[in-house]
Amino acid sequence: MTNDLISRAISARNRAIAPYSSFKVGAALRAKNGRIYDGCNVESASYGLTICAERVALVKALSEGERDFSDLVVVTDAHDITPPCGACRQLLWEYCGDISVCLHSARGDEENYRLSELVPHPFDRRNLE
Ligand code: THU
Repeated sequence: MTNDLISRAISARNRAIAPYSSFKVGAALRAKNGRIYDGCNVESASYGLTICAERVALVKALSEGERDFSDLVVVTDAHDITPPCGACRQLLWEYCGDISVCLHSARGDEENYRLSELVPHPFDRRNLE
């Protein structure tokens, strides 16, 4: 079940544009209807405009009208697992809720979380009510 997401994330990672960090990341996000949206990181010469793979996948999905998600895979070729950065966690929480998150390393290690474990005290729309 997760294998199709892992292979999509690996393919997306091959398209990463990471000339500054050389740190290539791939992500694949599955909607509840089964559609998969993948993304890679896209870096900018002004560094701060860099977009992470997870946010690329999320924004692709949202812009296609998807609103309900089930799981996410993040792949790097780093020795150790790469967890999503804080900005990605925030947006994933707001738009995906408590999805499963599978972090996959080059050496085949895998860690599985619920997003609520990675965002234990979230700020979201409920705080604005
Ligand atoms: N990056 C991601 O794409 N996702 C993560 O989860 C962590 C970091 C990217 C951003 C930048 O292009 C490179 O990895 C180094 O930070």
